[in-house]
Amino acid sequence: MPESFVITMDGPAASGKSSIARVLARRLGALYVNTGNMYRAVTLAALEAGLDPADKPALRAWLPSLPLRYPIHEGQVQVELGGRVLSSEELNSDAVNGAVSLVASEPAVREQLVTAQRGMTALGHLVMEGRDIGSVVFPQSPHKFYIDASAEVRAQRRRAQGQDDQVGRRDQLDSTRKTSPLVVPEGASVIDNNHLTLEQAVQAVAQLLRAQGLSVPEGDNP
Ligand code: DC
Repeated sequence: MPESFVITMDGPAASGKSSIARVLARRLGALYVNTGNMYRAVTLAALEAGLDPADKPALRAWLPSLPLRYPIHEGQVQVELGGRVLSSEELNSDAVNGAVSLVASEPAVREQLVTAQRGMTALGHLVMEGRDIGSVVFPQSPHKFYIDASAEVRAQRRRAQGQDDQVGRRDQLDSTRKTSPLVVPEGASVIDNNHLTLEQAVQAVAQLLRAQGLSVPEGDNP
């Protein structure tokens, strides 16, 4: 089997990177990894444990006892907390949306999750999306993308999903934190996703991947 590849997909909240990454992974037969869900799982667990997400020493002391596992289901890496697979509703609750940037700014949290993310290469080809995947987790990958969209388009996307997610506030926190802030990774191709349909965005990425030597099958339904 050829060596496994990692396609990295970074960008601000609600830029459309999850949908693009999911479709691409399916077409490539690669595993889809949503690393935002890993930071969300730690946040949910901290809130359930009654921790104040701003209390960093308490967060650091509690972290090693966190029972996180990453089982694969239908081509996607899931997040399991103490034997319970976390649902999208739990991971995207308003409480988690409000606290996740704070939890993700703690270096000890990032260290633990980045180690797990790097270990996932043993599972096969990956399409991994997040904020620091091309800059920190897999900077050596030749297949790096940054999916961008304006603050208005992104806020509109979240509202259409029925979520009250302060994307602007989260982006500000995610872009200005000291450890692994959101940046356009060196060597990444930037996709302007303001006016593209999902299929157009997938095609734009697929075309660049083909130019990089990867074989990407056409798909008839996203
Ligand atoms: O992708 P998302 O919006 O579900 O991510 C939730 C939060 O997790 C986001 O506000 C910042 C953090 N995050 C991160 O710091 N690094 C990543 N690789 C992915 C997400």
